[in-house]
Amino acid sequence: MIRAAVCPEYGPPEVVRIEEQASPPLEDGQVRVRVSAAAVNYPDVLLVAGQYQISVPPPFVVGSEFAGVVVEVTGGAGDLASGDRVTGTQMFGAFAEEIVVAAQAVARIPGGVDARTAAAFGVAHRTAYHALRSVARLHAGDSVIVLGAGGGVGLAAVQLGTALGADVTAVASSAEKLDAAASYGAKQLINHRSGDLRSALRDALPDGANAVIDPVGGELSEPALRSLRRGGRFVTIGYASGVIPRIPLNLVLVKGVQVLGFQFQDLVPDEFARNEAELGEMLAKGRVAPHIGAVYPLTECSRALREVADGKAIGKVLIDLSARP
Ligand SMILES: NC(=O)c1ccc[n+]([C@@H]2O[C@H](COP(=O)([O-])OP(=O)(O)OC[C@H]3O[C@@H](n4cnc5c(N)ncnc54)[C@H](OP(=O)(O)O)[C@@H]3O)[C@@H](O)[C@H]2O)c1
Repeated sequence: MIRAAVCPEYGPPEVVRIEEQASPPLEDGQVRVRVSAAAVNYPDVLLVAGQYQISVPPPFVVGSEFAGVVVEVTGGAGDLASGDRVTGTQMFGAFAEEIVVAAQAVARIPGGVDARTAAAFGVAHRTAYHALRSVARLHAGDSVIVLGAGGGVGLAAVQLGTALGADVTAVASSAEKLDAAASYGAKQLINHRSGDLRSALRDALPDGANAVIDPVGGELSEPALRSLRRGGRFVTIGYASGVIPRIPLNLVLVKGVQVLGFQFQDLVPDEFARNEAELGEMLAKGRVAPHIGAVYPLTECSRALREVADGKAIGKVLIDLSARP
């Protein structure tokens, strides 16, 4: 038997409860992973609420990103073997002591990278890096505005934008989040609760920015878009504010900017592979690492989800499954 965080019915994070259940059976091409750490992502909250773009009928085991050790393989599992340390993502099932996944859905963790770092790295850093590199097309010396700069994707974008040699302006709702952004290289820090965002951005970037990374949406998007210089790129990644902004289209024409969406499946395969290799190297060499703002035991899974649901997370929130009762 294994312990798992189960969503028994759609609702707030507090509906999630810990249950003992049989470990899922293994089919050909799958591996069984003993989960060491799992990361909370915003879609986990939406999936539990029944508000995600894809719905999973309850009951289901919550959690989409994990790191752990392979404990069982099937014939079609390629060169994976028991004992391999792996990380992976799947729509649900990660907040459990074991997860069964397709062998292609996991990747080996580079030597020297611990399980918590590996679990926290996959979604946020990959999203941020592909968005910066292939959608914003950021170059050294460019300036980029990052909204939600204290959150998972935002703080990763601050780190990675800095690693690419860009000048990063961080926008967030608290001094604590902005301190975190500063510690990862943001040069300009703007608390959007302290005043008018458009004028603060104009003061910080009189010549405008080359790019905006927006995982938040809502009322922050338009002032950020207005702060782009000609030819600038606005990358919409998500709507953590719960509000999908409506931008006057004439702004795009008059300002000569581009508005682009980010989705993994839209990436050009060659660029995808290049970006993944670059990111993997930065991780393996310790040049970037996710900021882990909080770690909860499996029994406090609802609290972990609540922290993300309320936009309070700084960097990544993790569930630690390494301790077995
Ligand atoms: N397109 C993709 O492939 C892709 C990939 C990954 C994530 N996403 C999406 O990107 C979004 C952000 O993900 P994340 O992991 O960075 O989330 P996160 O860590 O929770 O950060 C989101 C940020 O949004 C802001 N926010 C404003 N109102 C909020 C509210 N009512 N609830 C929660 N946050 C609120 C907060 O920043 P301030 O308090 O500083 O304003 C918070 O730090 C999510 O919608 C996620 O689904 C999309």
